[in-house]
Amino acid sequence: MNKGVNSIITGTGAAVPEQVITNLDLEKMVETSDDWIVSRTGIQERRKLEDGLSGVDLTEGAAREALERASLDPSELDLIIVATVTPDYPTPSTSCLLQARLEAYQAAALDLAAGCTGFIYALTVGHQFIHSGTYKKILVVGVEVLTRITDWEDRSTCVLFGDGAGAVVLEATEEERGFINFSLKADGRGADLLIQPAGGSAMPACTETLQKRLHYLKMSGNEIFKFAVRVVEETLLDMLERENLKPEDLDRLFLHQANLRIIEHIRKRLKLPTEKVPVNIHRFGNMSSATIPIAMHEELVAGRLKEGDLVAMVAFGAGLTWGGLLVKW
Ligand code: UT7
Repeated sequence: MNKGVNSIITGTGAAVPEQVITNLDLEKMVETSDDWIVSRTGIQERRKLEDGLSGVDLTEGAAREALERASLDPSELDLIIVATVTPDYPTPSTSCLLQARLEAYQAAALDLAAGCTGFIYALTVGHQFIHSGTYKKILVVGVEVLTRITDWEDRSTCVLFGDGAGAVVLEATEEERGFINFSLKADGRGADLLIQPAGGSAMPACTETLQKRLHYLKMSGNEIFKFAVRVVEETLLDMLERENLKPEDLDRLFLHQANLRIIEHIRKRLKLPTEKVPVNIHRFGNMSSATIPIAMHEELVAGRLKEGDLVAMVAFGAGLTWGGLLVKW
């Protein structure tokens, strides 16, 4: 990392809805089975946001916990970044709604959409503001309410997704830890592989788009699977090589939780023990930009993440986008 101010994560938080949807529940809705879902994805259950609530409610819960753990008052925040593909509204941004909830009125606020890589992009953007000396205290949230854009009649996607929010507080530091390096990538030629076709300016919602169910997510699962297996390893090895590090030097590798088979494939290729690659997909499904911050929060709360640990995060998703971060915790 070139000269400049470094940043560290000083607090984490998470919020998931109470309502649990099990694989058995899904068996009653579409032609699927617990056996198929567990063996192909590793997912046993996922959370679904209750009617009447929206993404900002989850966001606020995760954000307040992260702020409390960082011993920071919301009024001290310089910037709020919310990574999401399921904002409360196309406009205004969820980050502005969150800013009002927290009464963090002096903080700038922006939403960032980078598919399931959203949290990695958002954390990197936050770091840049600190690195340049512009800001000192930033709240970064990954939140998704994917169940609201899931087609509950499409078995190829409805078994995969869940709702949740994870938040971190990022602060300037003079300590010898924090960001080491990052990698952000995109390939827009794969835009059609994971897309919500209707509801944007290309295809505004109308009776026909509703009838054709075009306002729900469509995914070419197989193609994304092959892409993910390739880019996750490439991204991680690139970040490690730039620092003359090896996979075995890692204390924790947080991978986007999209499919247990992808996670296990990578873990075995890198010859890492299971405890170094946390998994929560069996409990929450794929929560897009919320998966990594929630997994990180769970490890921290369980006392399995310590100051000085070498931590990597790698995600991939719609866009196509992919990327990673290497930090000294
Ligand atoms: O978050 C980032 C973006 N998303 C991802 O990373 C997802 C990556 N992809 C995947 O995780 C996997 O591709 C899936 C889990 C989505 C699908 O697994 P797969 O092993 O690639 O299955 P497939 O799509 O090749 O389908 C195999 C069979 C098909 O039947 P036929 O054509 O072989 O008769 C599907 O129709 O499984 C069938 N199938 C199902 N069967 C029971 C698809 N979904 C289901 C289901 N229950 N829910």
